[in-house]
Amino acid sequence: PAHRPVVVAVDGPSGSGKSSVSRAVAARLGAEYLDTGATFRAVCWWCLENDVDLEDRPAVAEAARQLDLELGTDPTGPTVRVQGRLVAEELRTSRVSSAVSAVATNLDVRAELRRRQREVVDAARGGRGVVLEGRDTTTVVTPDADVRVLLVADEDARLRRRARDVHGTDDAAARERTRDEVVRRDRDDSTVSEFSVAADGVVTVDSSALTLEETVDAVLALVLRAVPEA
Ligand code: DC
Repeated sequence: PAHRPVVVAVDGPSGSGKSSVSRAVAARLGAEYLDTGATFRAVCWWCLENDVDLEDRPAVAEAARQLDLELGTDPTGPTVRVQGRLVAEELRTSRVSSAVSAVATNLDVRAELRRRQREVVDAARGGRGVVLEGRDTTTVVTPDADVRVLLVADEDARLRRRARDVHGTDDAAARERTRDEVVRRDRDDSTVSEFSVAADGVVTVDSSALTLEETVDAVLALVLRAVPEA
């Protein structure tokens, strides 16, 4: 039977595993993958590189509108090009991570990036479908997605995962170093949207006690329940 393209939105706090889970779910569905956070990071990185003051909100919004932003949506190797330049590690530096909230709380930037994110989703609806992840994807970007998931994990599990990602180990010292960053990021971002409580119709998946594979299977089960022909 022919597959039907699905739109799956995954939201959740940092360290919940939403990126790994979303990419794996997209790969299993043969769908595209969109990391919406990367669009905010791309604007932030470009502004830092070009000395645009992140507190100058109209200037940052104008940069977002003018930016040549190309999003590669292969879940096994998603890419971001800014003004033709392939950026990857550039978007993950602590310089960008610690500055990006100023961009993400800029409402005009949000409007512009939402428009671009929806372009990717609309194109995928007529093609292979898409798994998109990020704050407010379940509520604002695609409230009409076939499946909307809020991925949560308890603080300990989130700290362990972030510590392994960022410091390569999850020993006590690495967890402590990570704690400040995670708590601060979530606090800064919570001015944008409330992501720790699932909105109506959004299914909460708690990955605290699950492996990556088990979490992926849980999300895939939700997809197949909502769209049996996916
Ligand atoms: O998920 P991430 O760390 O790459 O997100 C980067 C920043 O963008 C972070 O401040 C959260 C914000 N963000 C957002 O406001 N809305 C989204 N849809 C995705 C990310």
